[in-house]
Amino acid sequence: MLKRNKNNKASGNSLHKKAKKYIPGGNSLLSKRREMFAPNQWPAYFESAKGITVKDISGNLFRDFSHFAVGTNSLGYGNSKVDKAVKNCIEKGNMCTLNPPEEVFLAEKLVKMHPWSSMARFARTGGEANTIAVRIARAFTKKSKIAFCGYHGWHDWYLSANIRNKKNLDLQLLSGLSTNGVPKELESTSIPFFEGELNKLEDILKQKDVAAIKMEVMRSKKPSKQYLEDVKFLSKKYKSLLIFDECTSGFRETFGGLHLKYDVNPDLMILGKALGNGYAITSVLGKEEIMEKSQSTFISSTFFTERIGFVAALATLDEMERVKSWEKISSIGSFFKAGISKLFTSYGLKLELSGMDALVSYNVNHKESREIKTFITQEMLKNNFLCGNLFYPSTSHTKKDIKDFFNSLDKVLRKLKLILDKNEKVKDHLKGPVSHNSFERLN
Ligand SMILES: Cc1ncc(COP(=O)(O)O)c(C=O)c1O
Repeated sequence: MLKRNKNNKASGNSLHKKAKKYIPGGNSLLSKRREMFAPNQWPAYFESAKGITVKDISGNLFRDFSHFAVGTNSLGYGNSKVDKAVKNCIEKGNMCTLNPPEEVFLAEKLVKMHPWSSMARFARTGGEANTIAVRIARAFTKKSKIAFCGYHGWHDWYLSANIRNKKNLDLQLLSGLSTNGVPKELESTSIPFFEGELNKLEDILKQKDVAAIKMEVMRSKKPSKQYLEDVKFLSKKYKSLLIFDECTSGFRETFGGLHLKYDVNPDLMILGKALGNGYAITSVLGKEEIMEKSQSTFISSTFFTERIGFVAALATLDEMERVKSWEKISSIGSFFKAGISKLFTSYGLKLELSGMDALVSYNVNHKESREIKTFITQEMLKNNFLCGNLFYPSTSHTKKDIKDFFNSLDKVLRKLKLILDKNEKVKDHLKGPVSHNSFERLN
């Protein structure tokens, strides 16, 4: 039985200690480490989540204004339509010797949403789906190297980029990623470029052994249609495949991949995160002649066939389409962006905003920015809000929630301004260590 410790906002401390004893690092996802928010203060463990309300294991309630389970739940936590479909699936049976028919229905639905594609394969995590796409691209082109931009998961093919230079991945999304355990023989098989670096990309492609260019359509900055077309042109010129990783960008601004909006189609594409509204399901879509190459190599896993994922995705897609979730979350996000920027400016603080409206990233431009971020998280917890420096809106966030968030934030910023005006160190006002902003080993 979990012990309730009402009104103790730093709940989960003892469980967190135990977690570090039994799980290296304490958990299985960097982005959910409490050290990424406010070490020793972030509640860490949840008992239940519904809409945008999270109940921690001490019974405290919070409204979630953070990365919202890293973007998995654009229809809110515990969406009743999706959960009903999943419960029904559990009643009928989740796993079986035979295949679930919903795998076929989902493949058909996703292919119809992306008319340039004709076939789909499924996995359960974004990193797996990316690795499948890399394998298919290598099998199809009979080439080895991958030119990439952005973050694409934890697998060897991606981390190998840091073998030659351990800072290669630092500015892609996560810094400090170690290659310990990655075969050194993979050196220079994955080569990074940055958004907009067409010359650099062409230099990589000139090495003639590049199976694919892999990139997100957008992370922090809106791409131009021309840029996407130029990358596609280069992929054709050098006979490499173009893979869009839409794990995060998919379903936020469009129904499906963001590339649909730009009308620039890849050869392969990955969808994940929001696809199952919190249930594990990711997919690789592609053109038939390329996807068929997955039959010439071995890509197979027991839980790739779990029924819940397909059922959840089908229900999620129906609900997204019904409520036009991508429009709703973009509008909520744009309201948030406008308000938060005005609020920080009114206290003389410069806020840097990036990302699409439906995936807002903000950062105070200040020499103590990490301390300020931690201070805001700490103080907003007292007001029963979860926040960091990312806001992933969901259809469950209302304008009233956002106004309440701003009212609380206003008070926190007033307190912060007094600290800064008195030339005091923000760090001295923290009740725990400063948040991490990269991959760090934990003790
Ligand atoms: C663009 C992109 N690709 C791949 C991944 C990895 O997905 P997962 O954490 O489900 O393995 C992520 C996760 O943040 C992502 O944003």
